[in-house]
Amino acid sequence: MAKIVNSWNDFDPLKHVIVGRADNSVIPNEEPATSEKVPVDSEMRGMWGPRPLETVEKANAQLDNLAKVLEEHGVKVDRPTPLQWNQPVITPDFRTDSMMTCMPPRDVLLTIGSEIIAAPMSFRCRYWEYLAYWPLLSQYFNEDPEFLWSQAPRPRLTDKSYKHNYYDEKISLEERLERTANKDFVTTEEEILFDAADVLRLGKDLFIQHGLTTNRKAMEWFKRKYPDLRIHAVNFPGDPYPIHIDATFVPLRPGLIINNPHRRLPEEQRKIFEANDWEIVDAAMPAHETPPPLCYSSVWLSMNCLVLDHKNVIVEASEHNQLEQMDKLGMNPIPVPFRDAYAFGGALHCATADVYREGGCEDYFP
Ligand code: ARG
Repeated sequence: MAKIVNSWNDFDPLKHVIVGRADNSVIPNEEPATSEKVPVDSEMRGMWGPRPLETVEKANAQLDNLAKVLEEHGVKVDRPTPLQWNQPVITPDFRTDSMMTCMPPRDVLLTIGSEIIAAPMSFRCRYWEYLAYWPLLSQYFNEDPEFLWSQAPRPRLTDKSYKHNYYDEKISLEERLERTANKDFVTTEEEILFDAADVLRLGKDLFIQHGLTTNRKAMEWFKRKYPDLRIHAVNFPGDPYPIHIDATFVPLRPGLIINNPHRRLPEEQRKIFEANDWEIVDAAMPAHETPPPLCYSSVWLSMNCLVLDHKNVIVEASEHNQLEQMDKLGMNPIPVPFRDAYAFGGALHCATADVYREGGCEDYFP
């Protein structure tokens, strides 16, 4: 029996990873949490149902190619088992008419050392998504005697978990930014809610974005679950839709982080990085003015890169500014086309989940 699961950060040498699949993907119907995810001016408002097959095939081609490139770089790749996502989710507490997809795995699975935790996500449509990864986790459990297979407390997602009328009025961008600044988000503190992609792992320190998908109670849960780790709640006031930290604050190697220039980490929260000689650099501007059609995310997926080790990093092939910046920062960028997969929930970091990276739990902020 061998050690299969180990990862403490996003930059130590990557050896084993899960890459998502777009099969059977659905645009979910509106529900208390997801209405927030679809910008008011988006062409996706009010639209739901299975995604056009042609777009699924194109996304899968790019996901398969990413898997191939990773294998060429010596990374073992596993893939989830898609479910028929076009089915309702019914629990004793709620019903919603569809699920979503098994993209992106980064939102669901959080690897901390030899543990993988399935996140207690706030979207009702994503309630069963973890099942797509269960065959893999079951296999890791059978083969790795140290693998800790975990599930955060399952949320009930009753109406009490959401603020009512949070999005009822047509609120302006200014008001949205004000809400972010005031830490006024759609989820309540009724129960523990987080998406794995809101957690930035840097060894002994977890920097967790408090936003639309992760609440304060989650921070408290992390503190109690990991008494040996330091938990930091972080906010990025310039983001009108604060969901997932990986298009906002992305570490490239020990001592270096790129930060979305529209969503700068506040002075107060930068201190710990500065005190430990970490450099926070503004990320390069995106190459595109708009996201691709039917996409939930912003153009800042440009900085959602997948770091293979302290030198090599996979960057979306058309993001020429970001590619150039990587070069200037002393990284070796590997361009991989991925825009056809963006609509399925994100870019190169989102579309993957760590299984094994070399290295242990370092203290970068002693
Ligand atoms: N909220 C981010 C943006 O639009 C996208 C983050 C996607 N990340 C993910 N893990 N799904 O800028």
